[in-house]
Amino acid sequence: MDSLFLKNCFGEKTDKKPVWMMRQAGRYLPEYLEVRNRFFDFLSFVKDFRAAAEVTVQPVRRFHLDAAILFSDILVTLPLLGLDVQFIPGVGPKITSPIRDEEAVRALRDDSPETLDFTREAIFKTLDLLRGEVPLLGFVGGPLTLASYAIEGGTSKNLQETKKFFWRYPKAYHELLSKIANLSGEYLNLQRKWGCRALVVMDSWAGLLSEEDYREMAYPYVKRVLEMAASKETPSIHYANGASHLIGEMVKLPAHVLGLDWRSSLIHTFEKFPDKIFQGNLDPALLFSTPAIIRKRTREICSLTKNRAHIMNLGHGVLPGTPIENVRAFVEAVKEF
Ligand code: CP3
Repeated sequence: MDSLFLKNCFGEKTDKKPVWMMRQAGRYLPEYLEVRNRFFDFLSFVKDFRAAAEVTVQPVRRFHLDAAILFSDILVTLPLLGLDVQFIPGVGPKITSPIRDEEAVRALRDDSPETLDFTREAIFKTLDLLRGEVPLLGFVGGPLTLASYAIEGGTSKNLQETKKFFWRYPKAYHELLSKIANLSGEYLNLQRKWGCRALVVMDSWAGLLSEEDYREMAYPYVKRVLEMAASKETPSIHYANGASHLIGEMVKLPAHVLGLDWRSSLIHTFEKFPDKIFQGNLDPALLFSTPAIIRKRTREICSLTKNRAHIMNLGHGVLPGTPIENVRAFVEAVKEF
């Protein structure tokens, strides 16, 4: 596969820039909503491998993107620990009995990600539909981010319970993170074995930690996940949201590519780390402006990064309600540059 995307992940500058979008399959697409409406429950949708494969390829077909990302969720691995995960419409993910003490960590199960048949089937079906046109990306959540869902019981704005748990029960915290890291490394490896050509670690909430706490609470574990999944042929991408203050730590991670969120200054980051490969970072909210503004801002990023390997993306996921013609303006501005 002569892939623009993979070449750039391996540091090869190309004339054209590869482009894909975090959350590229989703509620802004009418063809996604049509499939979504066949399911009452989000997890039943994810576990239906035909539906998952179908919505994985939808944005690739519509916008001619340079990579597909498997339609699933970072939280599908939590049930392997014995946690019950539900997606409540209009609210978000909920963990029925969050982990709040040492006893709860001791009681966790340790099922193998090999049992996630729906992921294997969805990868096979997607590869069928993609016919080798673009690489398929697999992904996991970062250990800190997954632990935050397990401890908080849902999305948290400040990681209050997670930090409290860390300070009260440091040993149990490290045990939990270690368990999640091993599970995630193994799951990424399986996704690679099943046919994914690049692997993404999304440590969405790491930015809520100070640099000092990041070093102890998150870094060693996300490093382990990346090491477990490392391969010469299969590049890895690390993304954390709101984490530009952690860039000095994140560049030490064994990831081929670092995703930059939309707040990060591309120009300063590029100057400071001349040998690193970055992905990003147009503000997803800018896609609510006009095609003319989007083309201008996108071309600015392309100009800034034109002399280096770089992967164009948004600085976080596509937001629900984003106008399709604006998504198209973004992708076409990259392709025409
Ligand atoms: O296109 C893709 O990017 C692949 C699919 C994907 C989803 N979630 C589908 C999804 C991916 C890669 C994710 C990752 C994910 N999930 C992250 C990390 C990335 C990030 O956004 O920072 C996180 C933190 C989650 C957890 C999660 N899943 C939340 C907080 C929510 C509810 C909020 C929301 O966006 O609705 C979900 C549900 C979810 N995951 C949806 C989708 C398309 C919406 C569910 C629906 O359609 O009803």
